[in-house]
Amino acid sequence: MNDKKDIFILAIETSCDETAAAVVKNGRIVLSNVVSSQIDLHKKYGGVVPEIASRKHVEKINPVIYEALVQAEMTLEDVDAVAVTYGPGLVGALLVGVAAAKAIAFATKKPLIGVHHIEGHIAANYIENHDFKPPFISLIVSGGHTHLVYVKDYGAYEILGKTRDDAAGEAYDKVARAIGIGYPGGPKIDELGLEGDPDSIEFPRAYLEEGSFDFSFSGLKSAVLNYLNRSKMMGESININNVAASFQQAVIEVLVTKTIACAKKMGVNKIALAGGVSANRGLRQLMKKECEKEGVFLQYPSISLCTDNAAMIGSAAYFEYIKGITHDLDLNAVANLKLKNKL
Ligand code: KG4
Ligand code: ZN
Repeated sequence: MNDKKDIFILAIETSCDETAAAVVKNGRIVLSNVVSSQIDLHKKYGGVVPEIASRKHVEKINPVIYEALVQAEMTLEDVDAVAVTYGPGLVGALLVGVAAAKAIAFATKKPLIGVHHIEGHIAANYIENHDFKPPFISLIVSGGHTHLVYVKDYGAYEILGKTRDDAAGEAYDKVARAIGIGYPGGPKIDELGLEGDPDSIEFPRAYLEEGSFDFSFSGLKSAVLNYLNRSKMMGESININNVAASFQQAVIEVLVTKTIACAKKMGVNKIALAGGVSANRGLRQLMKKECEKEGVFLQYPSISLCTDNAAMIGSAAYFEYIKGITHDLDLNAVANLKLKNKL
């Protein structure tokens, strides 16, 4: 089954609360994509508990890898390389995936490819649309990151902006906790906001200095918390649909305005969304509307490829593999692995 012209990558992702493994062909075709989510386990604590996440990864990693191979109708012998997210993320969680990938690479003598989690999120767009190619501007919005990146070529990019404080997803999760709707907040605020009026409460938009592509969400988060506290003290009833819709509008207006401005400045007519928050309906809608207005092509992954998965890691790894970039078996997990310009 392994036609030598084709490259099959077994990919592993355990950076946060999803134990995931996938087999990806030629960087774009997903043969299997298994995700074992721990959300229910962490829900009662209102967020991810690192120690619980690590233990659950240890329990799930082998069955998840096995399942990914079974679904792809492959054995370890059939794959060309083993890829793994080595950062950023929870160190104890990352270590489980990295150890598993190294063990497989060592035992099978296959190359090991360590992937930056954010590069994986960007690559999800290559899976979704087989004709989608760089150059493009990518807005990466997840629980831990908010970046605007100029993707010049596969695995070659320049960071044009990032958050100076909270990530967009982090703001969603914190606001969700404050209105008492639990973890993870993003999808719930998305849902609640559908029934609310986005213009009902005026929350601040942080555009920062003229021409800046950086973001800041901590002021908005504080404004929502202050609004909730003030309303409670005054004995006023709180319409959580309106709070969710108005908060979301403040987030997405800034994300969309800056992303479009960034594409214009760089003279690029393609935009790709990436990361968990790109599952947000409001963000997709407004970005689509503005891109259509500006004649910019918009690409975003389907919901299951927006949030953490291993198929995106397999895709990013493929573009490294064909350039001959692999890692030694001393690859380590790096919790705060920075996204750096790579040109
Ligand atoms: O990419 P991801 O799965 O994990 C990280 O790499 O962080 O992103 C998770 C984040 C969480 O903050 C979650 O609340 C947010 O993505 N999220 C959403 C939606 N779905 C997930 N935020 C807004 N709207 C959504 N529909
Ligand atoms: Zn992620």
